[in-house]
Order: sequence, then C-alpha cells, then structure tokens
Amino acid sequence: MPDAPFEIRPARDEDRLPLAVLFAAVAEERDGIATEPPVDVEARAASWTIDATLVAVAGAEIGGFLHVERSRHGFGEIGMVVAREWRGRGVGSALLTAAIEWARERSLHKLSLGVFAHNAAAIALYRKFGFVEEGRRVKHYRRASGELWDAIEMGLLL
Ligand SMILES: CC(C)(COP(=O)(O)OP(=O)(O)OC[C@H]1O[C@@H](n2cnc3c(N)ncnc32)[C@H](O)[C@@H]1OP(=O)(O)O)[C@@H](O)C(=O)NCCC(=O)NCCS
Repeated sequence: MPDAPFEIRPARDEDRLPLAVLFAAVAEERDGIATEPPVDVEARAASWTIDATLVAVAGAEIGGFLHVERSRHGFGEIGMVVAREWRGRGVGSALLTAAIEWARERSLHKLSLGVFAHNAAAIALYRKFGFVEEGRRVKHYRRASGELWDAIEMGLLL
C-alpha cells in the first residue's frame, strides 16, 4: 500500500494466514482490540471463521478485515481491524459499508459491537454510520498491564 486502490471482498480460505498475521500485528499495539500478545498465529489461522469475514485487499495484500458474528437472535456482532499503515484512507468505512449491506441481505435486524472507551477513531467511525451508544461496561477488561478498561456497547438498527 499505502496509496494503492483497494477492494472489499469476502474472505477466502487462503486468506487465513494473512488474516491471523494482521490480527497479531494489531494485538501488538495493545490498544484497539481486546486480544493482547502472544497470539498463536497458526492456531488463529486454523480456527478463523471465514464465513462472514470481509477483507480489504490491494493486490495480494490484506490491509483490513471485518467479521460479523451472526447470532441466532437476529443481530450480528462486529469485530474489525485495519493495518496501521492502511488507516485514515477510508478502508474502515468501506468495510463497514459492505458489512451493513451483507447484514441487510441476510435480514439481520441489528449490528452491535463493543469498543474501548478511549478508542476515539473507532467510535467516530461507528457514529458516522449511525451506531449509537447503548451502554458502558465499567472496568470490564483486565489488561496485561493490570489496568481495567471500560468498553462502550454500540448498536445500529438496520
Ligand atoms: C478504527 C479503525 C478500524 C478505523 O479504520 P480506518 O480505515 O482508519 O477508518 P476510515 O479511514 O474509514 O475513517 C473513518 C472515520 O473514522 C474516524 N477516524 C478515523 N481515524 C480517526 C482518528 N485518528 N481520530 C478520530 N477519528 C478518526 C473519522 O470519523 C473517519 O471519518 P472521515 O474519514 O469521514 O473523517 C482503525 O483505526 C483500526 O483498525 N484501529 C485498530 C483496531 C481497532 O481499534 N479496531 C476497532 C475495535 S472496536
């Protein structure tokens, strides 16, 4: 990347390893996602739920993904990351646009997610798409540092 055009497509089986490598790299930041190092990349690649994962790609490179964990109750729970060097270029927005379309096509009535309270970039992205704050889980996540972090629950009715 960083200026190459990207496209959003459904993940494929051969994406497993690059997806796990990207996930591990963002976990190393110890900031945006709940998982912290060490990440067992091989195990994560093997167990990845490819269905309902969308990827942002430029050529052979995967720069972001979004997964929708579809519940039996009509809602889907989102998890997403964009590689650090791909951020701020609309990749997150493109993934979210595609996910909303994906969810509507499958008649989900709602998308939801949890986000750390300090994650201003992610919260701004979700608000931009109409997600609203539904609650706060106080001191919910214990980090490796021992800190206890709040999470905001957000939802979008489709
Ligand atoms: C959150 C994240 C997915 C955003 O992806 P991105 O590709 O940078 O997002 P976009 O470029 O599409 O930006 C979308 C919106 O987010 C907001 N935004 C992005 N970066 C921001 C920043 N640093 N500060 C404040 N708002 C920001 C803006 O509202 C922006 O809208 P605009 O372009 O109309 O101004 C990305 O920063 C990321 O992967 N972070 C690490 C992992 C993570 O936090 N995942 C989410 C867990 S809940």
